[in-house]
Amino acid sequence: MKNKIKYSKIIAGTMTWGRWGKRFPLAQMVKMIHGCVDLGITTFDHADIYGDYTTEAEFGKAFSSSKTKRDKIQLITKCGIQFDTKERPNKVKHYNYSKDYILWSVDRSLQNLQTDYIDLLLLHRPSPLLSPAEIGEAVDSLKNTGKIRDFGVSNFTPSQIALLETVLPVSGNQMEYSLTANEVQYNGILDDCIVGKRIAMSWSPLGSYFKENTPKTQRIQRVLEPLTEKYDATEDQLLLAWILRHPANIHPVVGTANESRLKKSVDALKIQMELEDWFLLLEASKGSEVP
Ligand SMILES: NC(=O)c1ccc[n+]([C@@H]2O[C@H](COP(=O)([O-])OP(=O)(O)OC[C@H]3O[C@@H](n4cnc5c(N)ncnc54)[C@H](OP(=O)(O)O)[C@@H]3O)[C@@H](O)[C@H]2O)c1
Repeated sequence: MKNKIKYSKIIAGTMTWGRWGKRFPLAQMVKMIHGCVDLGITTFDHADIYGDYTTEAEFGKAFSSSKTKRDKIQLITKCGIQFDTKERPNKVKHYNYSKDYILWSVDRSLQNLQTDYIDLLLLHRPSPLLSPAEIGEAVDSLKNTGKIRDFGVSNFTPSQIALLETVLPVSGNQMEYSLTANEVQYNGILDDCIVGKRIAMSWSPLGSYFKENTPKTQRIQRVLEPLTEKYDATEDQLLLAWILRHPANIHPVVGTANESRLKKSVDALKIQMELEDWFLLLEASKGSEVP
């Protein structure tokens, strides 16, 4: 059966907790872990590469110091991307999904995260060279030894998932989905999650709204502002409410490393966006009405 594990609806993205962002010292990372768990955000999203392969280990230290019980949280991590960094000198950025590499990468993640198991292992990006049979062997071995509980992908298309599913079940897909980057609601990726009973996780759920000042974000802002009063909610909450309205039961992987914004993310789960407001926002994002 797919999706035996219960993930929190809001998932805490850890990409910017370390060297790629806030550079939290140990005590602050411990505080973040406690803060998330207290809010019911019990699932943490990692990747081996975050912080140039350093953030998992910093989190692991904080997790250990936090004395949080392992069964109170769920850990997601990803493997496959090979950067050229000081920590890992590679000739070229590439993806590696050989059996040996996957096994090695999971062992490192386990060590770094200071845990015996990963709840959900994701292949980070599809590689044209991946071999489903080899991945199947690696995942079988990891499941049989209890090192991972579940397996999924990130940024994969439905046909790439179908290719893997000739060999093994794919429990989830983590994709870019937001009001400003909403292709997955048209290209079959979200439909595939519903059909395949896969957990759909959205990365960068706020899209470019706070990151760019463009005609698109300005159009959205003009529609969002009056809606903040109507729903008694902030802009980031409404951006989350917009993706949560999709029937694929989206789990937003929120990137904020700010505790009050994390709380607002959880409160956004209560917002029921009205149908026409959803389309008003879509129209603002597209710059034209739906056909
Ligand atoms: N699978 C993949 O390929 C992939 C790719 C990218 C990311 N991810 C995952 O997705 C997670 C989230 O990605 P993301 O960081 O791009 O997500 P996001 O939640 O869309 O954006 C978070 C950023 O927006 C800022 N922000 C949030 N609310 C704001 C507000 N009201 N006003 C101004 N700025 C605001 C945050 O700053 P503050 O921290 O200061 O609040 C943070 O810099 C990552 O941590 C990672 O786990 C996965």
